[in-house]
Amino acid sequence: MGLEKKIEEISSEMNNFQVTTPEELEAFRIKFLGSKNCIKGLYQELKTVPNELKKEFGQKINALKQEGEVKFETVKSQVGAANNGSNKEIIDLSRPAEEMAVGSRHPLMVVRNEIIEIFNRIGFNVSEGPEIEDDWHNFSALNFPPEHPARDMQDTFFIEKGENEMALRTHTSSVQVRVMENSKPPIRTISPGRVYRNEAISARAHCFFHQVEGLYIDKNVSFADLKQTLQYFAKEMFGDKTRIRLRPSYFPFTEPSAEVDVSCTLCNGDGCNVCKYTGWLEILGCGMVDPAVLDAANIDSNIYSGFAFGMGIERITQLKYRVGDLRLYSENDIRFLNQFKSAY
Ligand code: DAH
Repeated sequence: MGLEKKIEEISSEMNNFQVTTPEELEAFRIKFLGSKNCIKGLYQELKTVPNELKKEFGQKINALKQEGEVKFETVKSQVGAANNGSNKEIIDLSRPAEEMAVGSRHPLMVVRNEIIEIFNRIGFNVSEGPEIEDDWHNFSALNFPPEHPARDMQDTFFIEKGENEMALRTHTSSVQVRVMENSKPPIRTISPGRVYRNEAISARAHCFFHQVEGLYIDKNVSFADLKQTLQYFAKEMFGDKTRIRLRPSYFPFTEPSAEVDVSCTLCNGDGCNVCKYTGWLEILGCGMVDPAVLDAANIDSNIYSGFAFGMGIERITQLKYRVGDLRLYSENDIRFLNQFKSAY
């Protein structure tokens, strides 16, 4: 190999030599500047070059040697370790940054916010009440007389029994009583919140869950208003093709009462295993506010009427995101929660 080629080769090797640690710096020094460095051999070979070219090649080799010294000094100050012996690595500012883990909203809160937004758009505000409730707001004012068997519909966690009975609220209907007591019609409000029932935890039941209560009171509120409001909600939540159907039901605080189904979000009503081949999925309970409930809150039932509805946020989330097991919501499994990162 000619001398010129060798100079070029060593030069490119020197340029490509990666130095980021003190060890690599030392390897560089030994190779290009040390007592047995590879440039020395080039001076030997200079002897074989014709006289008239000796000057030119001599200068090239000198330049190469200098190049090595300059690179060594530069990287030495970067590595910052050659002299003081510390093991610090140089920081490469051009490296892409590591991804920072950011939190995301819980799926139940994503859906709760969406429900709030949907009802905000048609003039409903948001109201809240306490999770520890007295008998009046959770039961009596909602037309559950003492010893009424309907109280058994909801397995209550009592905090204090007897005169000053206090319990964890079993539903957010308690908030509608508080709103009626504290404001005058027209009332348009939804009340999201956590509720508690003494149930064994399984895939389909939990001792706490979340509901959204809705209440609309004004003059001349009719069942048609209720139906239209729920139809609007179902389309906004599950898509434009969604239909609803109402089945007669019973709740102490509404008369008449109904349970509402939406056309299956998966098969659109054709029948599949999600809707158990019925084409329908139950989403909420509702009805016209019982006059006794209006009167209990000092709203004149001869002048005003209203409708109410209550839905489980877990249920809506289950249908929207196909969550098969209620326990997933409270287990804090990051593999589950991470799937809602793109939701807002
Ligand atoms: N409070 C009921 C429950 O927890 C749900 C409900 C049904 C609320 C009908 C209502 C309603 O306001 O009208 O099962």
